[in-house]
Amino acid sequence: MQKRSYGKHFVIVAVIVLVTAIITVVGLSRVRWMAAPASAQARSVDSLLGIELVAIGFLFALVMVFMLYSLVAFRQRKGEEEDGDHFEGNTKLEITWTVIPLITVLVLAVLGARGLTEATAARADEMTVEVTAFSWGFKFAYPEQGIEASPIMYLPVDQHILLDMNSVDTDVIHDFWVPEFRVKQDLVPGVPTKLRITPNKIGKYTVLCDELCGTGHTNMQAPIEVVSASDFDAWVAAQQPSTDPAEMASLGAELAASQGCAACHNITGDPGGIGPTWKGLFGHEVELSDGSTVTADDAYIAESIANPTAKIVAGYQPIMPASYGQVLTEQQISYLVAYIKSLQ
Ligand code: CUA
Repeated sequence: MQKRSYGKHFVIVAVIVLVTAIITVVGLSRVRWMAAPASAQARSVDSLLGIELVAIGFLFALVMVFMLYSLVAFRQRKGEEEDGDHFEGNTKLEITWTVIPLITVLVLAVLGARGLTEATAARADEMTVEVTAFSWGFKFAYPEQGIEASPIMYLPVDQHILLDMNSVDTDVIHDFWVPEFRVKQDLVPGVPTKLRITPNKIGKYTVLCDELCGTGHTNMQAPIEVVSASDFDAWVAAQQPSTDPAEMASLGAELAASQGCAACHNITGDPGGIGPTWKGLFGHEVELSDGSTVTADDAYIAESIANPTAKIVAGYQPIMPASYGQVLTEQQISYLVAYIKSLQ
C-alpha cells in the first residue's frame, strides 16, 4: 500500500483549531463568571483564571476539531472496502503530547503556589476580626476595637484584615466566602482557621456559606460593608449598647435578618410557619406542648432564644438550633426581644 500524505489535512485542521480556539476563548472571557473583584487577593486568582480559560479554550478546540474533522474527512466512502492505514506508535507525537501538558501543568502549579503564598502572607499592620460561624449564620467581633458581637462586618478600605475563624457547631463544616474577595476558607469544628483579605473597593458585599451544611445553608449569609477609614471609626463609636426601645427594635430587626430567624418565624401573623409567628406574640398567652400556658413576656422570649427546647409551643417541632445562647450576646437577645415586642 502506498503511503498517504496527511500534510494538507494538518494545515486545514490547524487553521480550524486556531479559529475555534479564538472564538471559544473570546466567548468564555465575555461570560461574567463572578462579580467584579474587590480585594487585593483577587488579582492573582483572576489572572490564573484568565490563563486557564485560554488553556481550556485551546484544548476544547484541539479535541473537538480533530474528532469532527476526522469523522467527516476519513469516513468510509461508497465502494471503499479496504482497511484504513495501520499505525504502530508515533514516538514524536507521544513525546509532544507528554511534554507540552507537563510544562503547562508545572507552570500553572508555580503560578498557583505563588498566588496562594501572596494571598495568605501575613502583614505587619493587620487588623483582626473574629468570625464565628453557627447554624446558620455568622457573627463578628473586633477585639482591637472592643466590639463583642456584630451581625454585620464593617471593614475599612485598603486595610489588611486577618480573620480569626471559629465555629460553635460540632457536627458540620461551614465556609466563609465573599465572591468579590475571591478567597475562601472553611470553618471547622474545633479547628481555628485564618483567612486574610485586603478589601480595596468601598461597597456592600455578602458573606456566603459555601459548604452545604444543613437546612439553613441557603440562608447562611451576612452583610459586609467596606467603608472609608473615617466611616469605620464612626461605626466603631456607634457600637455602644443602646437603651432606646425604638433603636433596640431596629437593631433587633437587623439581627433577625442576619441570624436566619426569618427562615422559620414570620412577622405576618400567619400560623403556618415552621416556628411560631412573631406578630402579636408579645404579651399574649402561649399554649405549650405539655398542656400548660405561659405569658410571652421578656423572660419567656429571651429563654426561648437562648434555650429553645425549654418550652415547646403546642403544635411545633423542637427543631430550633440550640446554638443561639452561645452565638448571641445578652445585649443582642434584648434587641431581638425589643423587636418582637414592637411587632404588635
Ligand atoms: Cu454553613 Cu452552609
